[in-house]
Amino acid sequence: MFQLLGQLFGHALMLFTGIALIVILKVLYNIYLHPLRYYPGPKLWAATRLTWTHAMQSGTYHRKLHELHTKYGPVVRIAPDELSYINPEAWKDIYGNRNIPKNAVWAGQEEQNHPISIVSTNEETHLRNRRALTGAFTEHAISEHASVLEDLVGLMITRFKEQEASGQGKAVVDLVDWTNFLTFDVSGLLSYGESFSSVDNGRAHPWVEISCSFGKGIALMASINFFSPLNKVLKYAMPKAVMEKMEYHKQIAHEKFLQRFDAEESGGKGKQDYVGSIVAYNKDKGEVKIPKEEIEANMTLLIFAGSETTSTALAAILTQLLQTPAALKKLEDEVRGAFESEEDIHIASVSKLPYVDAVIQEGIRMGPPASIALPRVTTFISVNQYPAFRSPMNFTQPDSFVPERFLPGSPFPSDRLDAFEPFLMGRHKCIGQKLAMTIMRLTLARLIFVFDMEAAETVPDFGEQNTYIFWEKKPLKVKLKASAA
Ligand code: HEM
Repeated sequence: MFQLLGQLFGHALMLFTGIALIVILKVLYNIYLHPLRYYPGPKLWAATRLTWTHAMQSGTYHRKLHELHTKYGPVVRIAPDELSYINPEAWKDIYGNRNIPKNAVWAGQEEQNHPISIVSTNEETHLRNRRALTGAFTEHAISEHASVLEDLVGLMITRFKEQEASGQGKAVVDLVDWTNFLTFDVSGLLSYGESFSSVDNGRAHPWVEISCSFGKGIALMASINFFSPLNKVLKYAMPKAVMEKMEYHKQIAHEKFLQRFDAEESGGKGKQDYVGSIVAYNKDKGEVKIPKEEIEANMTLLIFAGSETTSTALAAILTQLLQTPAALKKLEDEVRGAFESEEDIHIASVSKLPYVDAVIQEGIRMGPPASIALPRVTTFISVNQYPAFRSPMNFTQPDSFVPERFLPGSPFPSDRLDAFEPFLMGRHKCIGQKLAMTIMRLTLARLIFVFDMEAAETVPDFGEQNTYIFWEKKPLKVKLKASAA
C-alpha cells in the first residue's frame, strides 16, 4: 500500500517537474528567443499571456496600456505574441492592409458552428453580409429612421420634464441609465421593429439588463480563448443561473426576430431597417444570399453593436462636458442660438452645428467605446484606442476636454488628428458611424436646448472607470432644470 502511494507520489512529482520545466523553458524562449524579443516592453508581459489576462480581468487594461506606451513609446510588446501600437500610421498599416486578417481567437470564432454574421472572420462571408446591410445605413435610410429617432429622444425629454415637474423644478436623473434605455430602444426598433419601451417605462427591459451584464463574460471568454482547451471546459463550469439567463435572452431574441422576419416575408414592410435591408438584398439578387439563420445572427449582433457603443459615447461626452463648464457653456450658446424651439431640432438641422460635432469627437477621444484592441493577426497587432487617444505623443494636454482641437483654428495645431479613428478604418470600419453620429447629435442638442445641467455628484474623468472590453460605467447623476431658452 505504502509502496503504491510512494510510486504514485513519484509519478506526480515527475509530471509536475516536467510541466514546470516546460513552462520555464517557454518563458525563457518568449523573453530571449522569440521573434518579437527586440520590441520594447516589460519582461513580465513578454514572458506569458497571464500578465495580459490579469490586466484584462481587473478592468484596468486600458490604463495599464496607457502607462506602458507612456514609458516604452508607440509600439509595445504586451504579450509573447502581441504588439500594441498608438502611432497614427499604424491605423492604415494594420486595418487598411487587406492581407492582415481579423483575429478569430479573440472572437471565439475558431470554433465550428459559430453563427455567421457581418463580424465573421471569413472575409467572403463578411463582405456578403456587409453588402446586404449597407442599405440600412445610407443617408437615405437614416432620413427614413428620422421619426423613430426623433420620437424616442423626444419621449426621453418628456420623461425628464415630468420628473422635473414632480420634483419642484429640479430632477436628478442618471444619464448613464437613460442613454442606455434610449439606444437599446432605437436598436430594438431598427432590428426587430419593436422598441423595448425602456424610455417609456423609465427602466431597463429585463432583456436589456441581461445584455448589459454580458460585458464581463465576453472579456472572460476573450481571455480564456487564449488558453485552449480551458475554453472548452469553461462552458461546462458556467453557473446554472447564468445559463438560464442566457437561454432567456436567446429565446426572447429568437421570438422577436421571427415576428419581424415573418412580417417582412408576408407582404414585406418595405422598410429600410436591418431585416428589411437584407431581405431586399436577397430579392434584388434573385437568390437567398443571406439565409434566415444569418439574418437572425446579424440582428443579435446589431442590437448590441449599435446600442452599447453609442450609449457609452454619450456617457463619455456628457461626463467630460459636466467636468468642463466652459465647454458646456459654449455648447449651450451654440445650440440655444441656433433654434427657436425644441421642435426645430431634428436630425437634418442638428447636423450643421460644428461645436456639437467637436464636443462629440472630443468626448469619444477621452472615452472611446471601443477602448482597447480589435486585434488583427500575423502575430497579434492592434491600435489600442484609449492609450492612442490619451497619449501626449498624439495630443496636447491629452487629459483635458478641449473640443476646439477638432475645429479649424485649433489651439493645438500639432495634434495628430489622424491618430483618432474611433470607428476604425478599412473594410471592417463601423457600418453604423453615420447612425451613431445622428443619434448623438440629436440627443445632445435636445438635452442642452431644454435643460441646464449640473452634476449631482462629483464626476471623475471617464477613463478612471474600469473596462472589460466594454466600459463598466458608473451612474452619471445629473440635476436638470428647465433652461430659459
Ligand atoms: C459611437 C458609436 C460607435 C462606435 C465608437 C463604434 C465603433 C466600431 C468599431 C471600432 C468597429 C470595428 C470593429 C472590428 O473590426 O473589430 C465597429 C464595427 C461595427 N459597428 Fe460600430 N460603433 C458605433 C456605433 C455603431 C452603431 C450605431 C451600429 C449599428 C447600428 C454599429 C454597428 C457596427 C457593425 C455591424 C460593425 C461591424 C462592421 C464590419 O465588420 O464590417 N456600430 N464599430
